Order: sequence, then C-alpha cells, then structure tokens
Amino acid sequence: MSKPEIAAKSPFAVNVEKGKDYYWCSCGKSKSQPFCDGSHKGSEFNPLKYTAEDSKAVYFCGCKHSANGALCDGTHKSL
Ligand code: FES
Ligand code: FES
Repeated sequence: MSKPEIAAKSPFAVNVEKGKDYYWCSCGKSKSQPFCDGSHKGSEFNPLKYTAEDSKAVYFCGCKHSANGALCDGTHKSL
C-alpha cells in the first residue's frame, strides 16, 4: 500500500451542514482540499464519505495520515 501525499500539515476547518455528505480526499492529490476532485483516479486511493451529524465546524485531516479517518487526530504534529 503506498502512502498518501501530505496535502497540508494542518487540518482544514469546514462548516458542515447536518445530514450532508462530504467526500474527503484520502490521496492528498486533490486541488480542492480537503475534498476529492477526482485526482485519485488510477491510484489505489478512494475518497472517504463523511456524513455530518450536526451543523458545526469540523477539522478535516489535511496530512492524510490521521488514524481517525477524515478527521484530524493530531498525527500531523509528528510528521
Ligand atoms: Fe484524493 Fe480523490 S482526489 S481521494
Ligand atoms: Fe492530519 Fe491533523 S491534519 S492528523
């Protein structure tokens, strides 16, 4: 399994809307971070769906190394 690219060494704060689906870029190549723009095609990576449970600000992982899926878990600090 190859490693994702580090798009940013910090999370992206996004105001999500309750009930809405978001497709987080797991490969790091998207030009519209933190979301997938299709740039993963031909690689082993796929976007990860995140469904907002509430309308609030969430922190999507920009480094693509979080163990918490689409959301930042602080791993970027050790990269
Ligand atoms: Fe990265 Fe789609 S562009 S997962
Ligand atoms: Fe990836 Fe924080 S930005 S763990």
